[in-house]
Amino acid sequence: MPLEPDKTSPTRPASNPLRADLPPTLIPEPCCIVLFGTTGDLANRKILPALYNLARQGLLPAGFAVLGVSRRDWSDDTFRQRMREAVEKHSRHQPISDTVWNDFAQSLFYHAVRFDEPEGFTDLARRLDALADSQGTGGNCLYYLATAPEFFGPIADALGQAGLGGRNTASPWRRLVVEKPFGHDLASAAALDERLHAAFDESQIYRIDHYLGKETVQNILALRFANAIFEPIWNRRYVDQVQITMAERGGIDDRGDYYEQAGAARDVLQNHLLQLMALVAMEHPVTLDAHAIREEKLKVLRAVQPLDGTDGGPRPWVRGQYGPGTFAGRPLKGYRQEEDVAEDSPVETYAAIRLFIDTWRWSGVPFYLRTGKRMPKRLTEVAVLFRSPPMAMFAGTEEIPEAVNELVLRIQPNEGISLSFEAKVPGMRMKIRPVKMDFRYGVSFGDESPEAYERLLLEALLGDATLFISNDEVDHAWRLIAPMLDDWQKRRPEDFPNYAAGTWGPDAADRLFPPGSPGWRRL
Ligand code: BG6
Repeated sequence: MPLEPDKTSPTRPASNPLRADLPPTLIPEPCCIVLFGTTGDLANRKILPALYNLARQGLLPAGFAVLGVSRRDWSDDTFRQRMREAVEKHSRHQPISDTVWNDFAQSLFYHAVRFDEPEGFTDLARRLDALADSQGTGGNCLYYLATAPEFFGPIADALGQAGLGGRNTASPWRRLVVEKPFGHDLASAAALDERLHAAFDESQIYRIDHYLGKETVQNILALRFANAIFEPIWNRRYVDQVQITMAERGGIDDRGDYYEQAGAARDVLQNHLLQLMALVAMEHPVTLDAHAIREEKLKVLRAVQPLDGTDGGPRPWVRGQYGPGTFAGRPLKGYRQEEDVAEDSPVETYAAIRLFIDTWRWSGVPFYLRTGKRMPKRLTEVAVLFRSPPMAMFAGTEEIPEAVNELVLRIQPNEGISLSFEAKVPGMRMKIRPVKMDFRYGVSFGDESPEAYERLLLEALLGDATLFISNDEVDHAWRLIAPMLDDWQKRRPEDFPNYAAGTWGPDAADRLFPPGSPGWRRL
């Protein structure tokens, strides 16, 4: 099919041949999204803009409503006004289309409820009945818990008591989307699970990890299982190590309260990084359905060798906290100087860990995971480093390199995949240097990827739990990092802050690698 010129950009094809003939996206059944925590940061930055963008793409049903719920005493109009501001500020598409907005705004409503007062939920039930009539939502409800985690349990209890849980009823359907962090540790996650299960079946619960909604994260499955060339070498015979990095340039913004409870391990490592690792390491699922994929990821989490930092040897984890620093000549505060953070806070803003997965495929291959706030760049990637071949035949040639082929999956930004390999430098002599083959999403596919939250909201509305996490996965992820969290709880970090804002984290993180190894990839 010939490419038609795109009027807006000379480099992007208007119709994309790689997308031609794809089946149209499904439209969900009529429903109401009940958004708890509407006035919060997550709702403003992510959820409300994602809903607007779904409306823009015509992916919402005709019978539709969003009921914003929080403690503030807002009217429907105030909610619409605030939502418009959020969308203007954070939507990936700008400027906002008045036609789309005016139509969409008709489905926005607001209801004030105190999350810890169950009586208010009887009122909420009446409001939902009224919306079912006026908006034609058919009584289907997606409850989205975007509040502070301490309210997850009370809201689920109150929904159940008000008869809004809808256990065992397929029609109208009721679904509960729960944001992370899911619990604070193994015990609290299990307690929360029990509480949610009092009003909802497991099949109704959608635990979000927004990394699973990212285009590039899903592409890990396509890369591994839709190609014949990678899978044969995706194992301990060929792979030397895997490094997974999630570096953030930003700090904790104004989330000091939350972050003091969480820290990098609970905020990101327990969920995003372990999910990435599971997708990279899992066996092929029989189908792409929720059960099959979750089962395979779970097997990986279960096969991780228990972490042990008690044998007197070096612990396979490192924590860090940023102190004052600079970025591009600008001074940056240290973590302890941020708002709502204790002056002597022991909370980590950097965490790195080394894991081994005891399976036939991966036994003996180290997986290094790291994440940090206030790094020099925002960058998330999975790097698969292959073993060096025997280089003896090149002896006597100039500068024999340590040949390491690297396959790097760039999750963000500059989404894509690159493969580095050794090549001869042109010239009379045999000189070898690494070169790169590079695939970039934007260039090859033209279309912009949807935001993770758009995809996840749509999937939850469609009732597809594939991109959400099962309770067993949550449980095993907590179990896995428990020895590290216990150790950090017991030992105060004497060296905090141990890296300057705007740098790549504490030097100590290098000790996770064997002596003489090149260590972390330089990004
Ligand atoms: C969230 C964490 O889950 O992910 C934040 O709570 C973090 O601390 C964010 O900044 C990063 O998400 P993304 O999509 O920007 O990489």
